[in-house]
Amino acid sequence: MEIKKSEFVKSAVYERDYPEKKGIEFSFIGRSNVGKSSLINSLTNRRNLARTSKTPGRTQLINYFLIDDNIYFVDLPGYGFAKVPETVKKNWGNTIETYLKSERDKVVFLLFDLRRVPSNEDMEMLRWLEYYDIEYYIIFTKTDKLSNNEKFRQMKEIKKKLEFSSEDVFFYSALKNTGKEELTEFIYEKVMKYNKNKGKKE
Ligand code: GTP
Ligand code: MG
Repeated sequence: MEIKKSEFVKSAVYERDYPEKKGIEFSFIGRSNVGKSSLINSLTNRRNLARTSKTPGRTQLINYFLIDDNIYFVDLPGYGFAKVPETVKKNWGNTIETYLKSERDKVVFLLFDLRRVPSNEDMEMLRWLEYYDIEYYIIFTKTDKLSNNEKFRQMKEIKKKLEFSSEDVFFYSALKNTGKEELTEFIYEKVMKYNKNKGKKE
């Protein structure tokens, strides 16, 4: 299964700017530079759909992409970059919280760089997702940067801070497209279930 069609819809800050609701949407959140935009590009087979950058914290906007004409991918602004002024951080917080609180039917993917132990901000993000009772899944990114041994060791370190079972998380390399098929299937399954339930409700 592969995503065939994808297009940029719009950037938004406030809920009133979000595009008209279509159905379920999948959002990607995580610290700046973790690979959110790269992952979206990899999933959609597009090199430059979502803008990627070596300079962290470039975008402070929520970017909406329409996938296969019926679902949205949402690229959320990254957190955790040191060099921004306090006001920007506050705005970021407002933008994210507005999104999390919004009435959208959402599934959130929280991205962690496999090479790093989750930061305090990562842990805070997790608590936010729990607090707002949002369905979320963890994706470990940049898996190509570690050998199998290193991966094993790193997972052990991460598990000291974060409780999860391996079935609950995804591993991804946007560089090599590792994990792409699994994540794509997962997304399509969610969409199918969502549409079925919606049919029942109507
Ligand atoms: P912000 O938009 O600043 O929040 O960052 P982001 O999370 O969207 O990260 P982005 O996709 O722009 O990637 C940041 C950098 O990491 C870029 O230089 C990417 O090429 C690199 N990168 C992303 N994913 C991978 C990966 O799976 N493997 C490797 N080796 N590099 C990656
Ligand atoms: Mg990005």
